[in-house]
Amino acid sequence: MQKLLKLFDSSPQGTIFTNHLDLIIRWNPAAEAIFGIPSQEALGRKLSDIIAKQGMGIIDRWEKGLEESDFHLLGEIVSRSGERHLIEFIISHGVDEHGDGFKIVFANDISHHWFRNGQLQKVVSLETTINIVNTILQVTMQDTAFKQKLEMVLDLILTIPRLKILPMGAILLAGKNPFHLKLKVHKGLTMEHVEACSIVPENTCYCGKAAAEERVTYEGNFLLPPGWDDAPCRKLYPEAVHYSVPIKSSFRLMGVLVLFLERPLTKDHPEIETMMALANILSGVIEREELLREQEDLITHLKGVNTSLQDEKKFSESVISSLIIGLLILDPTEKIIACNPTGRQILSKFFPVELEGKTISEIVGEELAEAFLGNQVAIAQDTAPRKSVNFISPTGEIRLIEYISFPRWDSAGNSLGTIICFTDITEADRLHKKLEKMNRFSTIAEIASAVAHEVRNPLAGIKALAQGVEAGLDPQDNKREPLGRISKQVDRLNTLLSDFFTYARPPKPRKKLIDLTEIIENVTHLIHSRAQKINVSIKNMLPLALPEVSVDAHQMQQVFLNIFLNALDALNGPGTIEITAEETALNPGNYSRERFPGINEEEPLLALKISDSGPGIAPEILENLFEPFFTTKTTGSGLGLSIVLRIMKGHQANIYVESIVNQGSNFFLFFKIDQSLK
Ligand SMILES: Nc1ncnc2c1ncn2[C@@H]1O[C@H](COP(=O)(O)OP(=O)(O)OP(=O)(O)O)[C@@H](O)[C@H]1O
Ligand SMILES: [Mg+2]
Repeated sequence: MQKLLKLFDSSPQGTIFTNHLDLIIRWNPAAEAIFGIPSQEALGRKLSDIIAKQGMGIIDRWEKGLEESDFHLLGEIVSRSGERHLIEFIISHGVDEHGDGFKIVFANDISHHWFRNGQLQKVVSLETTINIVNTILQVTMQDTAFKQKLEMVLDLILTIPRLKILPMGAILLAGKNPFHLKLKVHKGLTMEHVEACSIVPENTCYCGKAAAEERVTYEGNFLLPPGWDDAPCRKLYPEAVHYSVPIKSSFRLMGVLVLFLERPLTKDHPEIETMMALANILSGVIEREELLREQEDLITHLKGVNTSLQDEKKFSESVISSLIIGLLILDPTEKIIACNPTGRQILSKFFPVELEGKTISEIVGEELAEAFLGNQVAIAQDTAPRKSVNFISPTGEIRLIEYISFPRWDSAGNSLGTIICFTDITEADRLHKKLEKMNRFSTIAEIASAVAHEVRNPLAGIKALAQGVEAGLDPQDNKREPLGRISKQVDRLNTLLSDFFTYARPPKPRKKLIDLTEIIENVTHLIHSRAQKINVSIKNMLPLALPEVSVDAHQMQQVFLNIFLNALDALNGPGTIEITAEETALNPGNYSRERFPGINEEEPLLALKISDSGPGIAPEILENLFEPFFTTKTTGSGLGLSIVLRIMKGHQANIYVESIVNQGSNFFLFFKIDQSLK
């Protein structure tokens, strides 16, 4: 693209780019020369304003023409210094990488052609000649194919009566590298001639000499190089005088006009001037063709660049939108230009506002914006220091967001703004902490179980001593009461220790096939009096026959007891505890993997549900429920549910909790049903 823009700048024709609002975004030196307006002044102005001011009555045609897709317009422009330029405008439309329209305006200064015409008319002043010359000029401006145009001009030149030209001639065009002349159009030449002169090397024959020396040559003023004295054109027309007229532009040689006159002209004959003026007209035709071709190439190239830019843009867009990290793209003024869908999803919860066009601090606040932009690293650096911050939603939800930002540069090294990458690491962080905690716990559990083992013996000693002393006391002795309390506290410590052992080193389950109904009934029996005290009704809704499952009865008792005790603790007053069960196969819709991750949908399972109408469990507590030592109670050890989980895992059984605050909690327990037993 840079290369392309350089090409525009060095183009000999005025080249102007305007954006979709008609504002000038590029204005090359040739445009400066035509309008007399320096680039820095033109940029940002409306092109139609300039045309209205400096164009000689062309604004109406200009504005009307702009509605067409590609249009040509011939008009006069008066530059600031008062010079008049005859300009041929060619305007082409395109679409940029953002989908906005833009225009390229080529302003081709053809004043010099008209100047040459004037010269020609002065020299060839006969009326018919003037008519012919005018026709030639009209032809040069026509929108016909190049070769056809050259043929028409050659035809017209051959009809100029004053020159006494024979009805034959040719136009040869200069090739580029290696230099040679190519016969482009001809009239009245024999096939032999056409063949012989189809390519003429530089400096050979009359045409080659005229091209090399850039002056008119003919047989009388020229000696051909050795080997060329029998030049085909000379041999072919012995009665004609062969004139070769160089066709030159202000920059370079473009070709040679070949004419055959009846008689040789004297060196300063005015007709030589006429021939040169005709060659000048031809140079205008060729130059215009070259410019048109250059324009076409540039437009095609530009359109190609745009298409590949658009393709590239689409590709990057699809990559960006499929990223699972959020991206915010800022311009150098810290305004948000774009945000990918993940970014929008993360931000919308915390900053539910339109992002585009606002600055980053308008969205996230000054402090956060500063933090985001402050953590900037060069893109090449691969070990970027990531930072994180808490986002708090209007509903009070807290999420941990990690971020990092990178500067954006264009290909020329100019700053384009910043890219901020951010991602919600709440879950990952929680998992990480949990893992850390688990590691810590397993070490603590190892040490603690060793200590607990040592504590057990002295505890037994304390209890035996206390009981021994108590036994020797008088029934009314008031020391009995504190001694009794010592024994009770020792009992409490012992329960805690055995709980702890169960957690730290759970015994291997001794499984037997049993109907869980029996165990549940035992446990309800155990808690019955406590439930009655606080007015909790226990509803056993188990079906009459449950499929038998393979479990350790003692461990299962612990499981249910813990769950029931927790429910009673949670209720702490009137309410219900309900126990239901069903085979998952009877109601598969209720037991999807989505709802209970980790269960095998294909496998026949027994699902047990223990519900309480207690206060429910808040989401942040729910996450920690099964962790050892997690408790919300002043007297709880927080081991109950962690033991439940360990036992269940030891049975390859699963447990899940669903709870709604103020409505109650449901504990789901899944056990494998052995099909062979059914
Ligand atoms: N049915 C329930 N309703 C409400 N909260 C519950 C329920 N079951 C458990 N919890 C919560 O889970 C926490 C952990 O329970 P867990 O059984 O592991 O320990 P605990 O009951 O606090 O102590 P421990 O069981 O060791 O005496 C409880 O402190 C309580 O906050
Ligand atoms: Mg408990």
